[in-house]
Amino acid sequence: GAPVTADISALAEGERLMLEWRGQPIWIVKRSQAILQALPTLNDQLRDPESANVEQQPDYIRAANPELRSLKPEISVLVGLCTHLGCSPEMVARIGPAPFDPEWKGGYFCPCHKSKFDMAGRVYQGVPAPTNLVVPPHHFADDNTIVVG
Ligand code: FES
Repeated sequence: GAPVTADISALAEGERLMLEWRGQPIWIVKRSQAILQALPTLNDQLRDPESANVEQQPDYIRAANPELRSLKPEISVLVGLCTHLGCSPEMVARIGPAPFDPEWKGGYFCPCHKSKFDMAGRVYQGVPAPTNLVVPPHHFADDNTIVVG
C-alpha cells in the first residue's frame, strides 16, 4: 500500500490521531512529559522493555530510543492491534490508578483477554499478548508531518 501522511499540528497532549495504512489502524499519540518520565520506571514489569524483538519496530526506531519507541520522544506511532489475537486495545492516557488495576501507569488495555501495554506499546509480563505493539515504518517530512509507510 501507498504511504499515508498525517498532519499533527493540531494534535494536543494526551490526544490520539487515527488513520489507516495497509488496512491497519495506525495511532499517533502525543505523550506528556509525565508519561515519558514514567516509561523507564516500568521496565522490570515488561516482557521486552528495550525493544529487543526486532520484528516489532524498524531498526531506526529502536536506535533512536528503545524505551520510548519513537523518533521524537513525545510522538508515538503504533499499529493499533493487540499482538495476541488482533483486538483493538483501549487507550488510557493517564498517570494513576485505573479501576481495573491500581498499579496502572497508563497505556493500552485490550478488553478481549486483558493484555496490557504501556504508553510506548510495550507489553507487560503475565498477559496473553506475546510481544510489544508494532511500530510501523514512518518518518517526519517536516516538524508536523508524519509519513507512515
Ligand atoms: Fe488482546 Fe487477546 S486479543 S488480549
